[in-house]
Amino acid sequence: MSATPHAMMPEATHDEAARFAHVVGLKNFLMRQLEPKWRSLVDEKLTPQLAAEGRDAKGEYRSLERSLARLGAYRTWQQLTVSAQEEMWRSVGECVDRQLPELERRASDPTAGGSVRTDPQFRPPRYLSTVDIHLMPGGYADDRGEGDVRQGAVFDKAAALYHMGRNGGELNDVRGHTLVQHYFDRFPGMTPERILDMGCTVGHSTTAIAGYFPQAEVHGIDVGGALLRYARARSASLGASIHYSQQNAEQTDFADGSFDLVVSSAVLHETSFKALPRIMREAHRLLRPGGVMMHLEVPLRFDTASAWNRVRGLFEALHNNEPFWIGAQQADIAQTVRDAGFADVASGYQPAVRVADRAAEPRFTSTPGPVHVVWYLLSGVKR
Ligand SMILES: C[S@@+](CC[C@H](N)C(=O)[O-])C[C@H]1O[C@@H](n2cnc3c(N)ncnc32)[C@H](O)[C@@H]1O
Repeated sequence: MSATPHAMMPEATHDEAARFAHVVGLKNFLMRQLEPKWRSLVDEKLTPQLAAEGRDAKGEYRSLERSLARLGAYRTWQQLTVSAQEEMWRSVGECVDRQLPELERRASDPTAGGSVRTDPQFRPPRYLSTVDIHLMPGGYADDRGEGDVRQGAVFDKAAALYHMGRNGGELNDVRGHTLVQHYFDRFPGMTPERILDMGCTVGHSTTAIAGYFPQAEVHGIDVGGALLRYARARSASLGASIHYSQQNAEQTDFADGSFDLVVSSAVLHETSFKALPRIMREAHRLLRPGGVMMHLEVPLRFDTASAWNRVRGLFEALHNNEPFWIGAQQADIAQTVRDAGFADVASGYQPAVRVADRAAEPRFTSTPGPVHVVWYLLSGVKR
């Protein structure tokens, strides 16, 4: 058995660990050895060639993608990338199923800190119920009822494989630390007493954020009961008492002005054009005057994305079941935030950190960088 970072993390046998290593090895090969060749073909060869003909490769990214897809080698790369993703979910699912009764027993500990509130009548928004985002079988909302933690355990175990360890290994908490660093950079001297994490999944970021504000009451909301039961138990085993509830971030049941800080991490690109303004308005309603809202996102904006990044975005949308991937990059989120009533709105790039430091020199910048090295951060204040 391999060592685990907290009591809820499914343990892998030797053979399961070997399958996970195979998945990560394949993902690494596809991403680090093959993908750069497509990037260089598109950005370094085809883009200047088209420019010489007076054409704009970035504007023609859809037809470029169709041309690439006529190449057997490109289709092989696509198919292997999808297969690696499917193999990840399959092998993690089997590992979780082998020990699910024990995980459910641990999650049902009535003495554990925090709380979880599920709602049998809850219906997830269509953008989450109609597709299994990033091919996770059953999607985020999958729930087998009272006591079920399967989807949470699968997501937690798979996340480090998905990110190939770049989001803080098995704790997957770098985004949480980076959000807090953004708070320290932009709002020095502030300390929230009530915090809400919208779209918390299994509390990877929520738990990291809670660690900086031990006096605060921290809440996380998401759409899946099995995610949230697992999240509560996971946070408790890491020493954090967090209150999880099954709610839609577009319309929650919290009272007006309930929070000092509302955040989301890697959520907006999994919503829709309609949901974005609703989420911003809901965050505005939930904050007390002077409260802060922050959203962390993938550090790609469509206007500055190279032709390859646009083609790669289409792959994400079409083959990794992320239908709003490109839409979120195109959306003027900062304007949506201003329209929702926020002041002092800033958007830019926050270097990823493993530990946030209130005393550190602010490093929030307008200079983009690669994913996992920086994150796109957008923040504003309710006046
Ligand atoms: C990529 S995961 C976020 C990961 C997590 N925030 C973190 O940093 O580790 C996206 C999450 O957003 C949730 N989500 C998307 N739209 C939502 C909505 N309208 N209400 C609640 N949760 C939502 C999804 O269910 C999913 O769990």
